[in-house]
Order: sequence, then structure tokens, then C-alpha cells
Amino acid sequence: MRVLGIESSCDETAAAVVQSDGRVLSELVASQIDVHGPYGGVVPELASREHLRAIVPVVHQAVSVLPGGFDDVDAVAVTNGPGLIGALLVGLSAAKAIAWSRDLPLVGVDHLIGHLLAVHLSRDGEEAAEAVSYPYVALLASGGHTALYRVDGSAQVQLLGQTRDDAAGEAYDKVAKMLALGYPGGPVVDRLASQGDPLAVDLPMPMKSRRSLEFSFSGLKTAVAQYVKRTGVPQTEQGCADLCASFQHVVVELLVRKSLAACQREGIPRLVLGGGVAANRGLRARAAEACAEAGVRLHVPPFASCTDNAAMIAYAGAQRLVAGERDTMELGAFSRSPISV
Ligand code: KG4
Ligand code: ZN
Repeated sequence: MRVLGIESSCDETAAAVVQSDGRVLSELVASQIDVHGPYGGVVPELASREHLRAIVPVVHQAVSVLPGGFDDVDAVAVTNGPGLIGALLVGLSAAKAIAWSRDLPLVGVDHLIGHLLAVHLSRDGEEAAEAVSYPYVALLASGGHTALYRVDGSAQVQLLGQTRDDAAGEAYDKVAKMLALGYPGGPVVDRLASQGDPLAVDLPMPMKSRRSLEFSFSGLKTAVAQYVKRTGVPQTEQGCADLCASFQHVVVELLVRKSLAACQREGIPRLVLGGGVAANRGLRARAAEACAEAGVRLHVPPFASCTDNAAMIAYAGAQRLVAGERDTMELGAFSRSPISV
């Protein structure tokens, strides 16, 4: 089965066609970074308008590379939450129109489930990754969420713990804003961090007890803000790199410690990383080291699978379809996910 996936929950308009075994046949992501960059964060109304502009060309291009075009598509999967409602409705309306006009089955997909299953995708030209078997523990760290899940199957997902306040990606974006590094903050802070001293600035490590699987990033963000207020924005590249490295060190340690604590608590020696923050080089390196020490097998999807994309939505939708599930034209959008509460 070949499923067309559509994603428009935040600031990426994306479409992909994926086989039910996870093979990606085509994919396209149109980013809105240039539109939101000047505001230092996503502006919901602008996001909806950009999705409206991009949705038809993006879907068209993703489908047109298939030999049979739309004739090669067997079903449509679409993110129907969580996310910005106006943004979600653009993708949802497009998906319904395609499904209705071509008489194809339609399924809604929880964006978070998409991230949790993205590790099963495979693309041409990518090194064949080792297949990941269920159950696994997944760390989902993005701009909107930071949580640990136990994943027993494509529809069996249990929340183990999550952030009490900011998401890890949100903390990256806010720190980057304080240092005038632009939006989104993750990639630039990551790059600078690799050139800095992680112990240069003493920052607090909130919720560091291994007993709790909850995170908190708002205190860390405030500590960086207070440091910047006290000493001013570092004027040298090295000063900036040291502050980024110190901030990243705390975030990465927290994410890795809690993830391993979750593996231990659940008795599962498999850890999967997902979400935009999983693109972080520091996190990837530290997780590899700590997992090797703890005898936990680490699965890190390629960058394209970590950040928002439609292939993960198509794959998650395909699993619902294979299980015999369908949605109707009444399918609605939701802003909060049932698997994050
Ligand atoms: O999963 P995603 O693409 O969108 C959401 O669902 O939120 O994640 C975007 C978030 C942003 O906050 C961005 O700053 C962060 O992921 N991010 C990173 C890196 N690349 C993206 N954070 C840390 N290091 C990175 N290399
Ligand atoms: Zn996401």
C-alpha cells in the first residue's frame, strides 16, 4: 500500500508518499523559517497563510514523481493534531478533498505518534538502518514537546514522563533569541556549542534525580537570561560558544539521563530518539556514549526523519490503515494530543 501523507501542524508544509513497510517513495518539505525568523518564533496566522500558499504545489510535486502520479496513491493520511488549529485545517482540508475526489481511504494521524514511529522509515541512498523491534523507549524532544514514551506497537504508546514547562526545543529557541542568533535556535546553538567549553558557565540542572522521568527547562532558560543580564550578551564568538556549550551540556545530560532511567525502569534495552532536538549533534554523541556504557541499543533516525516531515505521517497512517481503521469526512483537528496528557 502506498500512502500520501500531509503535514501542516506548525511551520512546515510537507507531503510524502510512503509504502506501508516504511519505504519513502517521494517527499517534500516547504519550510516557513524565512517568514517567522524575523519574529523569533512561529506566528500562527502567518503559518496558516503560508500553508495555504504551499499546500497545492507541495502535494502536487510529491505525487508527480510517482510513475502513475495520483493513480499510484492508495490512501491519504494527514496530521490532524496536535498543532496550530488554523495550520492543521489547511492540511486536513486538502487531504479530505483528495480522498473524496479520488475515492481514497482517509486517516488522521497524531503528529506525536508520527515522530515516535519515524525510526521505521527508510530512504534510497540512506545507509540501511537496523530494524527496530517493539517494545522500545522513545525520547521525543521537539519545539512543542519533550516526553518519554514506551512504544509497544504502532498504536500502543504509553507516556512515561514529560516536561512540566518548556519543551527542550523551545528552550533552544529562547536562548538563541537572547543571544540574537536567529530562529530556529537549535541548529545554531548546536554548532556554536561544539566550539565552546561546556563547563565555562555554571548553570543549574533542574529535575536531575533519576527517580523522576519529568523534565523542566524553564529554570535553565531563566538562569541563562540572568547570566546575560549580569554580564551582557557575550561579545566574542568564543564567549557565545562557551555559553551555548554550557546550556547544551545541561539539556543533553538531562535528556540522556532520563532516557536511560526510563529504559531501566521499563526493562527495555532499546532507545529511540525523535523530534527536532534529536538532530542535535551533542545529544546524538552523548546518547551513543551513555547507551554503550549501559548496554542499551540506540536508534537515531536520520535528520530528515527527526524534524517535522510528512513521511512519518504517511507511515503512521499506513499502520492504522493496515489495522483496518478509517476516518470519515467528519474528521476534525485537535490542538492537544491525548498521548501528551
Ligand atoms: O520536531 P520539530 O521539527 O517541530 C516541532 O514539532 O516542534 O522541532 C523543531 C525544534 C525547534 O525548537 C528547533 O530549534 C529544534 O527542534 N532543533 C534543534 C536542532 N535542530 C532543530 N535543537 C537542538 N539542536 C538541533 N540541532
Ligand atoms: Zn514535530
